[in-house]
Amino acid sequence: METRTALVTGAAQGLGQEFAVALAARGYRVAGLDLAPQPETAAKILDYVELVGDVTDETQIGEGLERLIDRFGTLHVVVNNAGIYPAKPFEETTADDWRRIMRVNLEAPFLVTRAALPYLKAAGWGRIVNIASAAVFSAPPTMVPYIASKAGLIGFTRALAGALAPYGITANAIAPGTVDGGLRTPEPPDLVSTLLYVVDEGSDFLTGQTLNVSGGSTYL
Ligand SMILES: NC(=O)c1ccc[n+]([C@@H]2O[C@H](COP(=O)([O-])OP(=O)(O)OC[C@H]3O[C@@H](n4cnc5c(N)ncnc54)[C@H](O)[C@@H]3O)[C@@H](O)[C@H]2O)c1
Repeated sequence: METRTALVTGAAQGLGQEFAVALAARGYRVAGLDLAPQPETAAKILDYVELVGDVTDETQIGEGLERLIDRFGTLHVVVNNAGIYPAKPFEETTADDWRRIMRVNLEAPFLVTRAALPYLKAAGWGRIVNIASAAVFSAPPTMVPYIASKAGLIGFTRALAGALAPYGITANAIAPGTVDGGLRTPEPPDLVSTLLYVVDEGSDFLTGQTLNVSGGSTYL
């Protein structure tokens, strides 16, 4: 099998770093795109391509992808993981708060996916994985724009699946949860195993789905 290449957004820390490291351990060549430098991630991955840029900025996305292609030549997997989740009472939520959350959590996955698509089409095989949230199903009242953005991301994923199917590219979402109303957050391995399942060579028929990984705290 050809060595696969993956781009993970928001790879400097948290889940993005875990996803990048897990994909590298599976033999993928990995690049990360984050606002922040990614020394910790780079230290854990041989031949890591560290792209510092903003996922809401089309120019920076394009430049990042060009660097990735210069280095690896191909792109197969995009993990749209970068996200922000500020909590605020609804009545204090400003239009700027709403727009900022929508831009990072919903518009950016669209921009990154659209910019990456020509490379995935050229490869003839691909996986788009959007990191949503199980909070969409529990809907905490202090996270109205966040819930709306992640619900939008799930809708984006479903529609994208049909649009990309002719090219052999799947699109799925993973919805991490917090268990028992936040008493326990999911451990990275709980989510990494789901990511590896979604991107697996044998998952060609899995598309348009949202995999809710929330330890039984919420159901679709
Ligand atoms: N941690 C959880 O329990 C949990 C639960 C449900 C969903 N999620 C989702 O998983 C994803 C990752 O969560 P996390 O907790 O690891 O987040 P985190 O805050 O630890 O890391 C997010 C990363 O994204 C980067 N980032 C933010 N805005 C960016 C931008 N505009 N351009 C480029 N990079 C940007 C940050 O620099 C950071 O490195 C998010 O989409 C989040 O909504 C997380």
